[in-house]
Amino acid sequence: MVLSIGRHRFSGIQVLVHAASWLPLVWIFLTYKFDPIKVNPIQTVTQQTGRIALIWFLLSLACTPAVTLLGFNPALKVRRALGLYAFFYAVLHFLTFSVLDYRLDLPQIFDLLVSKRYLIAGTLAFLILIALAITSTQQSMRLLGKIWQRLHQLAYPGAVLVILHYLWAAKAGTPGPYFYGAVLFGLLLLRVPLIKRWITTHKPPWLRQISQRLARPASK
Ligand code: HEM
Repeated sequence: MVLSIGRHRFSGIQVLVHAASWLPLVWIFLTYKFDPIKVNPIQTVTQQTGRIALIWFLLSLACTPAVTLLGFNPALKVRRALGLYAFFYAVLHFLTFSVLDYRLDLPQIFDLLVSKRYLIAGTLAFLILIALAITSTQQSMRLLGKIWQRLHQLAYPGAVLVILHYLWAAKAGTPGPYFYGAVLFGLLLLRVPLIKRWITTHKPPWLRQISQRLARPASK
């Protein structure tokens, strides 16, 4: 399936990713509008946008192993979009915090960002996401060459910082940071060359079947 909008052509998976990426925003807006009986609506929106940014960030990181281990090549076509949507939700998260919660009181915001450990981790992660988003174009890739590769490897420390940010922000015992931390740990393990090699040579039959099915050209 291919969708054409002006000069742009979108494959099925691209349409799916773009559509799915707007749904959380619509959902946040609708719950905010039609279910306003929340104890602290600003805190709720901060948490929702933060979690969506994290999930999309992890999905963008899962694209490379989906290609290298499962042979699911279409994932490469949506990696950048997923990363940019993660950035988009992180911007909404930051704006909810700074505009709605702290009414753009810049000195107070700055004081908080450099004094609370969960906000220091969040700010560093946000700065990494900004750098990755700005340099996500083909042009930057060509211009920066090897530096681009190194810069984009910062995505992993960035994701670790987000997990720390979540862990330190949430109440003790909240399962969320441990769950997403385990997903990130799994993705990091898949980058270890020895593990990568082991998986590709010892693929269980069911994984081999999935890989073959996913590796078929999209046109079939
Ligand atoms: C300057 C940057 C950032 C600021 C000021 C900020 C602010 C906050 C605040 C105030 C909370 C606590 C909300 C509460 O429970 O009261 C929070 C939680 C969270 N933030 Fe951030 N954040 C930043 C960056 C990020 C980034 C880049 C991500 C993800 C890509 C992120 C994801 C999260 C998550 C997952 C939570 C936990 C949500 C939950 O408790 O369910 N944050 N953030």
